[in-house]
Amino acid sequence: MFPDHRPRRMRTTAAMRRLTAETVLRPEHLVLPMFVSDAIAEPREITSMPGVYQHTDVTLLRAAHRAVEAGVGGLMVFGVPGHRDPTGSAGDDHDGVLNRALRALRREFGDDTVIMADTCLDEFTDHGHCGVLSVDVNGRERIDNDQTVQRYVDIALAQAEHGAHVVSPSGMMDGQVQAIRSGLDAAGYRHTSILAYAVKYASALYGPFREAVDSQLTGDRRTYQMDPANRREARRELDLDLAEGADMVMVKPASLYLDVLRETADHATVPVAAYQVSGEYAMIHAAGDRGWLDAEAMMDESLLAIRRAGADIVLTYAATEVAERLGS
Ligand code: PBG
Repeated sequence: MFPDHRPRRMRTTAAMRRLTAETVLRPEHLVLPMFVSDAIAEPREITSMPGVYQHTDVTLLRAAHRAVEAGVGGLMVFGVPGHRDPTGSAGDDHDGVLNRALRALRREFGDDTVIMADTCLDEFTDHGHCGVLSVDVNGRERIDNDQTVQRYVDIALAQAEHGAHVVSPSGMMDGQVQAIRSGLDAAGYRHTSILAYAVKYASALYGPFREAVDSQLTGDRRTYQMDPANRREARRELDLDLAEGADMVMVKPASLYLDVLRETADHATVPVAAYQVSGEYAMIHAAGDRGWLDAEAMMDESLLAIRRAGADIVLTYAATEVAERLGS
């Protein structure tokens, strides 16, 4: 009898669809990226990211409470310093904005949520690069990989000391995971985990983030972040970070790189995270605000697609709202 097969039977009711769904999105899968600034007296909404704020110390805690109560899996904190210099010294300053915030969050939440710190220099440098600059043997100014990695170790140590459960090197320097692991171990922070931004592309989707952290960058990051053209290289970056001791790995951005995410998830032997970045969030909201699409439905579908492609953990600026909608 035509047709022999009727897949639609599994779609007949909402209950049947729920029973047979292959992918689920739950609050605990979500991590909320947050910005804390010591250059402001009141929280400031980021123009291109409605609902996302640069927080003060006080409002950061309030927003963190709301996220934790909604059941999100973790918080990823970025610092926006009032003072910047060539080596990003605010990053490992014990009273620097990010370290202060980590201290406050850990005091407030203990081990009830996972506190993650962005381990990078770009927010803290006056040139906006993720590394320190030096003049090479040919007289050209370059991002100095090995000096930068030493700075990451100092910053990771400060973050571990001030309460981060997870440090997250996002600068795409070679050897950063190995150096941070050795540094943490030597100082006794054997339980501090490393979420490695293993596969991070030089993407136009980071545009709104530059406003979020008052980035001083001119130019681009193409000498350290990956070329969007490359897929095989993602496997190389993944294998290196696993060999260097990454506890979790990340693919970033998420939605334009679902192929890479799938491949990473198929080969990783550790949990895999994907970062739905600022531009992905901004596009969904901008189209929603114009009534061109349903922003909530679009957000849910985007996050589900990222999970379907293999992410265990999804970083998204919509984490709190989505978690509240899903219910914990
Ligand atoms: C670098 C960093 C960036 C983002 C996260 N970590 C900026 C960049 O690489 O240019 C972007 C995140 C986003 O766009 O949401 N520390």
